[in-house]
Amino acid sequence: MSQVFLLLSLLSFSSCIQVSSAESFKNVMAKWMMYRDECFRNISSESPLTGVVCNSTFDKFACWPDGLPNTTVGVACPWYLPWHSEVRHGLVYLECDAEGQWSKQRNASECVSRDPSQINMQHYGRILSQFRTMYTVGYSLSLGALVLALGILVAFRKLHCMRNNVHMNLFASFILRASSILIKDAMLERPDTFHVAQDITAELEVEWLVENETAVGCRVAMVMMQYSILANSYWLLVEGIYLHSLLVVTVLTERNYFGIYLCIGWGAPLIFVLPWVIVKYLYENEECWVQNIHMEYWWIIRSPILLAVVINFFIFIHIIKILVSKLRAHQMRYSDYKFRLAKSTLTLIPLLGIHSVLFSFVTDESTSHGALPLRLTKLFIDLFFNSFQGLLVAILYCFVNKEVTVTTFNTLTTSE
Ligand SMILES: *[C@@H]1O[C@H](CO)[C@@H](O)[C@H](O)[C@H]1NC(C)=O
Ligand SMILES: *[C@@H]1O[C@H](CO)[C@@H](O)[C@H](O)[C@H]1NC(C)=O
Ligand SMILES: *[C@@H]1O[C@H](CO)[C@@H](O)[C@H](O)[C@H]1NC(C)=O
Ligand SMILES: *[C@@H]1O[C@H](CO)[C@@H](O)[C@H](O)[C@H]1NC(C)=O
Repeated sequence: MSQVFLLLSLLSFSSCIQVSSAESFKNVMAKWMMYRDECFRNISSESPLTGVVCNSTFDKFACWPDGLPNTTVGVACPWYLPWHSEVRHGLVYLECDAEGQWSKQRNASECVSRDPSQINMQHYGRILSQFRTMYTVGYSLSLGALVLALGILVAFRKLHCMRNNVHMNLFASFILRASSILIKDAMLERPDTFHVAQDITAELEVEWLVENETAVGCRVAMVMMQYSILANSYWLLVEGIYLHSLLVVTVLTERNYFGIYLCIGWGAPLIFVLPWVIVKYLYENEECWVQNIHMEYWWIIRSPILLAVVINFFIFIHIIKILVSKLRAHQMRYSDYKFRLAKSTLTLIPLLGIHSVLFSFVTDESTSHGALPLRLTKLFIDLFFNSFQGLLVAILYCFVNKEVTVTTFNTLTTSE
């Protein structure tokens, strides 16, 4: 789900701050690419220096010629910067050390805009790029934990039962989602977000894929990503349905149900993605299919996710109700009862993806004119929960399996 919300948030975010800048944003991107190409042409046409030198390079901000060791090289502030007219006489510096290695840190203080609105944008651009680091860490940790958890469940035959079969598929869908997002991010080439900050970071993902030369590969990655997000939400839904069926359906023929679960989890997303692919191909076959010119096409894959989230939310409420009545019937001490209820509820939230309910309705239109810090906070929370959700689920439903899951499931299913 994360990516959908990420894209939505980023889109509304950027459309909010600079409605008129969509064009200027595209221009900057186009200029950056021209600069990059010119730089590569320059580098390949230069006759390289011999001996120990810092090799000419493009560091995504400026174009560096060969540098002599123990010197500081200065080049003009790159001309793709939107505020270039303001800094046209400035230089950006990079040190070349004695071994012929460029220093990691460049000094671009002369290329920074003094315009307060630009400074503000640079500030937010930096924050957004930190968010990206945060969710990359989240998805990476989730990926590692999920692969381990899936391995454990697959390897130990004793653990093979209906509940774990459902969990295994949920883990697999989380793995697919995390890896497709990480792969997509790795494929993207982007300018230095700090300096070209602007609204660029926001639309970076979107535009970057757009201009990618490998358009077919890019579209495949896009479709994979959308499918994995859908599959993930539908496996969360299956978890909800399965839990619910444990509670209300008395005669269980588990095997039959599992076939249905597989259809819902892996099949239903296909039903939604295919029409989207067809419609995109026929009517909006532009670049990498990331822009949503006709929002009704976007809704083909967006509404099923909302539907799954809403159904899961109602299942969640119902389960909590049943939980409360069961715990009450057990005549526990009040503190004990509250504790177990809280524990089970908290355990169920990541399993059912309940946190996303908060964001599915709040993020878009209703807040598009809200204050920037508020929107950033929301974006942060959303990205944080979505990227770490896999980790949480792997921990709760595999690594501390006995402790929590069994307790939760037992509380739900025993009717003494
Ligand atoms: C490429 O070389 C030309 C001529 O030396 C120079 O004017 C231009 O700025 C260089 N381009 C880049 C991107 O460095
Ligand atoms: C610089 O370029 C030379 C020749 O192209 C190459 O042999 C050398 O490994 C490069 N140095 C670095 C640090 O990349
Ligand atoms: C670079 O500077 C260091 C110390 O200042 C010196 O020892 C070294 O010889 C210099 N290297 C070159 C290639 O000039
Ligand atoms: C960066 O360069 C400016 C002059 O262009 C200088 O005043 C400043 O101290 C430098 N900053 C660093 C960290 O070297």
